[in-house]
Order: sequence, then structure tokens, then C-alpha cells
Amino acid sequence: MVTHDELVEMARDAQENAYAPYSGFPVGAALLTADGRVFTGVNVENASYGLSVCAERNAVARAVDAGSRDFVALAVVTDSEEPTMPCGVCRQVLWEFSRDLAVVIEGRNGRRVETTIAELFPMPFTSFES
Ligand code: THU
Repeated sequence: MVTHDELVEMARDAQENAYAPYSGFPVGAALLTADGRVFTGVNVENASYGLSVCAERNAVARAVDAGSRDFVALAVVTDSEEPTMPCGVCRQVLWEFSRDLAVVIEGRNGRRVETTIAELFPMPFTSFES
């Protein structure tokens, strides 16, 4: 099984491909699925700023596209000194697919926050019982 260390490293490799010319804030994500596959994602910005998509949601899209919806762990890395948490939109999207997701965040100082989607998103919106 892929370790959290390995997942962080994959997110760090992916971050190289982030397209973030407007914010100057490249983000890399790596999503581990229950069948042991890893899907990376990066933020992809646009001149029309509001069209930018976060790294986490791009990783989710790649996983779902490949037929994997059961997520086990997510690593997110940035160039911030301190770890930065996933935005609210990404929390909602992650929650859609996994109620039991480990989330690992690292900034540049090497400090790691290990949390869960349940902790990050304690009062989710659900349109019906799912
Ligand atoms: N961003 C992410 O990729 N993930 C987050 O959880 C928060 C923000 C991106 C969006 C934008 O491209 C840049 O970081 C600055 O907000």
C-alpha cells in the first residue's frame, strides 16, 4: 500500500506541472484509491480567474474518469511555509466520494498536518440520504 510519505512525494512531483501564472501559488495533490491507484492533480488557472480549478478537484476528476471513486487518502502540497488546508469547494467535492478520507497536508517547512475529511467538513450539505 502507498504510504503517506510516498503520497506527499507524488503530490510534490505533480506540483511541478501546476499552471498558476495568475496567483503564483502552485498546488499539487495526490489521491490514493482503495484499489491502490494514485491520481495526481494540479491547479489549472485561467485568464478569467474564476474558471481556475484547484488541484484537489482535478485529481478527483482524473480518478472518477478512470473508474475509481473510493478514495482512501489525499496529499496536498504547496510552496507556503505552513501547510494550507483544502478550500471549501474541494471539501464538498471530496465528501461526495469519501466519508472516510485521510488528508495529509505539507508546506515547505516540512510540517505535516494529518487530518480527515470528516474533521475538515463536519456539517456537509446533502440533498438526500446517501
Ligand atoms: N488552490 C488549490 O489548488 N487548492 C486549494 O485547496 C486552494 C487553492 C489553488 C486555486 C488557485 O489556483 C490558487 O490555489 C490560489 O488560490
